[in-house]
Amino acid sequence: MPLTIGVPREVFPDEKRVATIPDVVEKLIKLGFAVAIESGAGDAANFSDDTYRAAGATVVGDAASLWAQSDIVFKVRAPSAAEVELMKAGSTLISFIWPAQNAELMQQLAAKKVTVLAIDSLPRTLSRAQKMDALTSMAGVSGYRAVIEAANAFGRFFNGQVTAAGKIPPAKVFIAGAGVAGLAAIGAAANLGAIVRANDTRAEVADQVVSLGGEFVKVDYEEEGSGGGGYAKVMSEGFQQAQREMYAKQAREVDIIITTALIPGKPAPRLITADMVKSMKPGSVIVDMAGEQGGNCELTEPGKAVVKHGVTIIGYTDLPSRLAKQSSTLYANNLLRLAEELCKTKDGIINVNMEDEAIRGLTVIKDGEVTWPPPPLKAAAAPQAAKPAAPVAEKKSGHGHGAGEPMAAGTLAIMFGVGAALFWLIGAFAPVSFLSHFTVFVLACFVGYMVVWNVTPSLHTPLMSVTNAISSIIAIGALIQVAPPLEGIAEGRPSSWILGLAVVALALTAINMFGGFAVTRRMLAMFRK
Ligand code: NAI
Repeated sequence: MPLTIGVPREVFPDEKRVATIPDVVEKLIKLGFAVAIESGAGDAANFSDDTYRAAGATVVGDAASLWAQSDIVFKVRAPSAAEVELMKAGSTLISFIWPAQNAELMQQLAAKKVTVLAIDSLPRTLSRAQKMDALTSMAGVSGYRAVIEAANAFGRFFNGQVTAAGKIPPAKVFIAGAGVAGLAAIGAAANLGAIVRANDTRAEVADQVVSLGGEFVKVDYEEEGSGGGGYAKVMSEGFQQAQREMYAKQAREVDIIITTALIPGKPAPRLITADMVKSMKPGSVIVDMAGEQGGNCELTEPGKAVVKHGVTIIGYTDLPSRLAKQSSTLYANNLLRLAEELCKTKDGIINVNMEDEAIRGLTVIKDGEVTWPPPPLKAAAAPQAAKPAAPVAEKKSGHGHGAGEPMAAGTLAIMFGVGAALFWLIGAFAPVSFLSHFTVFVLACFVGYMVVWNVTPSLHTPLMSVTNAISSIIAIGALIQVAPPLEGIAEGRPSSWILGLAVVALALTAINMFGGFAVTRRMLAMFRK
């Protein structure tokens, strides 16, 4: 019999999100499931009971009967103790759980003999898992919302303007931590027209910062900040000192700071001190996204917006819920993708396949047995597994006349031999006039090659710079043919068809060169405000 997916109304105070939306209900039904939703579950996210009904869901009046008839429960926030009590034995819960922080809840759920898939425990480094990555979806929404909160509290425009009433400078925004939330914040602030700067201990994110319209500000201290798996590591005291100095300078200069710095499982790094807050201009804004982990700013009060030293410090911990329609839509789609993985047969029956790495990572309780933490991913163990390959390679080259290098050297020798024989033949049998032209031709090829390949691509792509270099050589050659002969050089003008060819070559190459500049200008204009 097909299973029923139940979606209760979130009971956490002020939580506005809902775990599924009407569009997704239709798709879940196509997968073979029946869908039941508690009346009013989508109200705060602007999805009415009627829209769920129209999509094919059954609307259930109260939470107790909803939980009682649900074989699978989709939720956003981890369930309360009262909700766990309502769970049907043998059912499956899919929700945020945070097992490391909620040991008591885990025990309660295990005692209920249920299966629990914690969406926060998804192995995010598996590329196949990205479509189910609700942490990323929620962080993206939060980064955007952080900018909107900042704009709301800030007394000026974000973009610079020249108006009849005077010139308005653009706002300067500094973003600490360029992970998922940070990058979303950079994009949103840059789109509003602000000057955006960002810093992260992982240098590899610099390109992403720039591509979103920000400027990457480096800490003046050499240290690799990547701790593996796309996360950061705790930095040395020397680095932290240099970072504090740089942040202090930014605090004096910018109008808005958005902090998103986090290392999973560690308290949030303290990046913004009380003195830095004091040094900011009155009316400035700090949005501290890491409030729940203790805050990146010393003066943050989690869950609140406070004004200290003339600076508004926003420590809201419910940013995704403040954009409930958007975050519910993304979350519902993440859960739909998970449902597809669990129900490949499309018959409304799920298979929690513990052999599948993504599902194994998510499953924190299986039929009442705690299965968290999961074993390390096989991919993570791969570099160690690769080690035995080395002796095999040694064995190959140990034969003396191995396959690789000697073959290449042989080919090279043959090529040289054939080339030399060809030159000897030309030298021995070709007429003298041909020989002088041929010498010039070979030298020209060599010089041309050196010129073209030594051009450094600067504003445009390597391909464009190479074609422009070739065009320049053609232009020089054509100009020499078209120009009157230098005095003292006896040779007359080239024949008219060579002149014609030179003029055509000049025209075509000019189109390429000037066209190239025009295209570059247009491309640059796309990035300019
Ligand atoms: P993430 O792990 O993708 O990004 C964190 C970034 O901080 C990483 O790029 C890391 O390299 C960087 N970082 C770590 N230590 C640093 C340091 N000392 N200096 C500079 N950069 C450092 O995390 P994500 O998903 O972007 O979330 C960011 C924060 O936002 C987390 O604290 C998360 O809990 C919080 N969050 C808050 C919400 C809210 O409602 N307030 C909602 C969603 C996320």
